[in-house]
Amino acid sequence: MLLAALCCLLWSFRTSAGHFPRACASSKSLMEKECCPAWTGDSSPCGQLSGRGACQDITLSKAPLGPQYPFTGMDDREAWPSVFYNRTCQCFGNFMGFNCGNCKFGFWGPNCTEKRLLVRRNIFDLSVPEKNKFLAYLTLAKHTISPDYVIPIGTYGQMNNGSTPMFNDINVYDLFVWMHYYVSRDTLLGGSEIWKDIDFAHEAPGFLPWHRLFLLLWEQEIQKLTGDENFTIPYWDWRDAKSCDICTDEYMGGRNPANPNLLSPASFFSSWQIICTRLEEYNSRQALCDGTPEGPLLRNPGNHDKARTPRLPSSADVEFCLSLTQYESDSMDKAANFSFRNTLEGFASPLTGIADASQSSMHNALHIYMNGTMSQVQGSANDPIFLLHHAFVDRLVDTFSQIMCLLVLNVFLTVSYALALSHSNVFFFFFPSPPPWVPVEFLRIHIRVTLDFSSGHDPRIVRSSPMSDSVLTAWILFLSPSAPPLSNNNKKKRKRKRKRKRKKKKKKKKKKKNPRVIEGVEVLYQSALVRQFVGLSISPDKS
Ligand SMILES: *[C@@H]1O[C@H](CO)[C@@H](O)[C@H](O)[C@H]1NC(C)=O
Ligand SMILES: *[C@@H]1O[C@H](CO)[C@@H](O)[C@H](O)[C@H]1NC(C)=O
Ligand SMILES: *[C@@H]1O[C@H](CO)[C@@H](O)[C@H](O)[C@H]1NC(C)=O
Ligand SMILES: *[C@@H]1O[C@H](CO)[C@@H](O)[C@H](O)[C@H]1NC(C)=O
Ligand SMILES: *[C@@H]1O[C@H](CO)[C@@H](O)[C@H](O)[C@H]1NC(C)=O
Ligand SMILES: *[C@@H]1O[C@H](CO)[C@@H](O)[C@H](O)[C@H]1NC(C)=O
Repeated sequence: MLLAALCCLLWSFRTSAGHFPRACASSKSLMEKECCPAWTGDSSPCGQLSGRGACQDITLSKAPLGPQYPFTGMDDREAWPSVFYNRTCQCFGNFMGFNCGNCKFGFWGPNCTEKRLLVRRNIFDLSVPEKNKFLAYLTLAKHTISPDYVIPIGTYGQMNNGSTPMFNDINVYDLFVWMHYYVSRDTLLGGSEIWKDIDFAHEAPGFLPWHRLFLLLWEQEIQKLTGDENFTIPYWDWRDAKSCDICTDEYMGGRNPANPNLLSPASFFSSWQIICTRLEEYNSRQALCDGTPEGPLLRNPGNHDKARTPRLPSSADVEFCLSLTQYESDSMDKAANFSFRNTLEGFASPLTGIADASQSSMHNALHIYMNGTMSQVQGSANDPIFLLHHAFVDRLVDTFSQIMCLLVLNVFLTVSYALALSHSNVFFFFFPSPPPWVPVEFLRIHIRVTLDFSSGHDPRIVRSSPMSDSVLTAWILFLSPSAPPLSNNNKKKRKRKRKRKRKKKKKKKKKKKNPRVIEGVEVLYQSALVRQFVGLSISPDKS
């Protein structure tokens, strides 16, 4: 029954992704509020003539705004993307993208009918040529202007309601830096006023799904750029790391001997320029980041505030996070206790699950530890370590979602409810809404079923608010194919074996404790539907 529900969800999923397509940056497009570019294959809007999609009105969630943001009509990001466009491409079948020119994640081929599974690997398991190829792709992305996307360098108001478009070219790498800035930037209220208590991608339930989609889109852009359809982002397994072991010139750049805040001149990345780091300056000018270079990448791993972040996350910390049974809890923000999201994000202690404002742990610990560009939210994606770091965070999310399996719908609704409620964490890509697809009533019934498996969940989710498409997308992505269990990161073989044995024992115990959940996991793994959906897996840690 549940699986049937999931299948329904999967099949009816429609989306489009990207950010400010170049083709929609004209005054005509902005004044008409229509972004339905032609697909190059048949020159029809949204590839309509080939049955790829159609230009349709967007539908927006009617959910109220949360208390964090007490304004309306002040920020272009409200009710995204309706300030800019109210008609966009809705893609059919396996098609995706601003003009339905891409395939959904996991699908390939000219008609998007081929299913393939890609694997994200530990960066230390890549061969030297594979690793060098990854570095070369990063460099290429940093030096290639995005053919498909531009960034707005002014607000809708500053563009005189679209009559005077203000957009800049941007390279493929920086496009994503900019997106991460844009989603987390402050609201410009006019004059010298700003509103800081807003972030669509952090400190709330959407943190993990937002970054998951971010990485998937990043991978897709690199695949398009390089023609390497098999490209995936490697991950950095930082469990028990004593230092930044990827901070060498062979990998992500060593330390500059003359200035510990800079990268070694022998690294590719020492010549990179960063963007979107001067938030205070933008705020004082009531301006947006326009992609102007702002100097070299800064990084000084280990020079951070040790009182805030005494150590990098350990294997035990990770185990603790994965042992939490609620994806999200109570306040659903950085004060949430026993929340998987909040603990993994790093606002709660990985020893107790209790929120602790004085500490930055887990995901946050890595950002603080790097003591440079990585340490400020808005500019952090400038450092390519961001990708390796988040690829590992995403791997943990995958592991968690396997454990949670039967609760998936429950989790999914908890989050959508929270998002709809708080509005502080909505997807921030160019994500037009799909047409209504599953009646909310239908979902409610199934949510009640799943609730039976989880004690202690907030009963409010039962009277769930209308689903927002982007939330839905996020949670469908959570049903991705499974990563193999995490093995010990320790390089010493003996220790590894011992741990593995212990883990096996643990698994057996879990089975006894909650056989229904384990059964569900197995069923879900075998579900070809789920497996094909994202087309992405994660390689086992090699011994
Ligand atoms: C979309 O925007 C255009 C231009 O402002 C407006 O004329 C039209 O009524 C809007 N359509 C919807 C469905 O809101
Ligand atoms: C893709 O679809 C088109 C139109 O349906 C068809 O003509 C073409 O042969 C298909 N191509 C492949 C490779 O399946
Ligand atoms: C933009 O639109 C708003 C709301 O419709 C209006 O109040 C404002 O005067 C317009 N600004 C310009 C420059 O056209
Ligand atoms: C991608 O991987 C598939 C399957 O392993 C292989 O057949 C194909 O040639 C690869 N493509 C490229 C561009 O390397
Ligand atoms: C680096 O760490 C020091 C404390 O050790 C802190 O004062 C400084 O703000 C940090 N720099 C960055 C860029 O995070
Ligand atoms: C989390 O737990 C702490 C300590 O028990 C408590 O002070 C705090 O209010 C809790 N947070 C929330 C959001 O309930």
